[in-house]
Amino acid sequence: MEKPFGHDYESARALNSRLGEVFREDQIYRIDHYLGKETVQNLLVLRFANGIFEPLWNRSHVAEIQITVAESIGVETRGAYYEEAGALRDMMQNHLLQLLCLIALEPPVTFDAGPVHDEKNKVMRAIRPIDPRKVDEVALRGQYGPGFVGGKQVPGYRQEKGVAPDSKTETYAALRLTVDNWRWAGVPFYLRTGKRLAKRVSEIAIRFHRTPHMIFHRDPAGGVDPNELVIRIQPDEGVALTVAAKMPGPDLKLLPVGLDFRYGEVFGAEPPEAYERLLLDAVHGDSTLYARADWVEQAWSLLGPVLDAWAHDGAPAPYLYETGSWGPAEADSFIARDGGAWRTP
Ligand code: BG6
Repeated sequence: MEKPFGHDYESARALNSRLGEVFREDQIYRIDHYLGKETVQNLLVLRFANGIFEPLWNRSHVAEIQITVAESIGVETRGAYYEEAGALRDMMQNHLLQLLCLIALEPPVTFDAGPVHDEKNKVMRAIRPIDPRKVDEVALRGQYGPGFVGGKQVPGYRQEKGVAPDSKTETYAALRLTVDNWRWAGVPFYLRTGKRLAKRVSEIAIRFHRTPHMIFHRDPAGGVDPNELVIRIQPDEGVALTVAAKMPGPDLKLLPVGLDFRYGEVFGAEPPEAYERLLLDAVHGDSTLYARADWVEQAWSLLGPVLDAWAHDGAPAPYLYETGSWGPAEADSFIARDGGAWRTP
């Protein structure tokens, strides 16, 4: 099955129970094509086949996590579908929450469907529920206006075919989530996704704490950025770790440099299409990289308060952003409330 798996918690439950009348859960394959992407699978290999990352993968060392899934295209020919969906339903409820789960989950006993799904569900249960009265503190939405792409003028979302001229559907969404468990207590997870943004890029950035004391400068900020591990899902698939290095010369000047692994350079060929892998897994009866019914319901349930708040008649319209930008200016103040800033991928 391809998404959408319902449009809210109730409809997803109804769909799952209808399916359950005909098939067993292990006969149902719900596709989330992000799980079939090579780099997404590599995320688990990076975490659990290397000894050096897991000891750092927790609140003692990680300061914050940012997940970005940015697209440069608009809604193209899918205006009518998108009007009913919006970025929260189209991308956040599935792809971005799946990525969050893979980053945050505890080591599964084996890389098999049961253990992996169980660990992902535990993450979902640990995400702090969104208080319906405080949705604005954890969620922000935007909508693209007209602009230029590659020198060509393109319409704003409200001028797209199949879209209402006064549409309040969001084409950009940002969330601030917290995973309330021993590993992640206090670490903010920032998620953002949008169409017609500056470029097509999906990445997960894990920012580590600053060094406790900087011996190279008197200024505590010291001009040295904290280490960052960036998992680039697409394009230019790879993994990069930024570290501080000394610039050659008589002065002790520090500069962030990247320890870089690029798929293209190491393995040459383009990674296979996500669907190729997923369909093959379905043929083999392996649902590890598929979405299980209970996970889908939990994801809807988590986002319910945001969906309700945004669907409310009196809700303010989404913030407008310029085509080709990194989203509405308000998204910057949204993250700045915690003292942070969005990365520029
Ligand atoms: C789909 C959404 O699930 O993912 C689309 O419905 C979106 O709106 C697409 O464009 C993005 O996928 P990818 O693989 O191009 O990042």
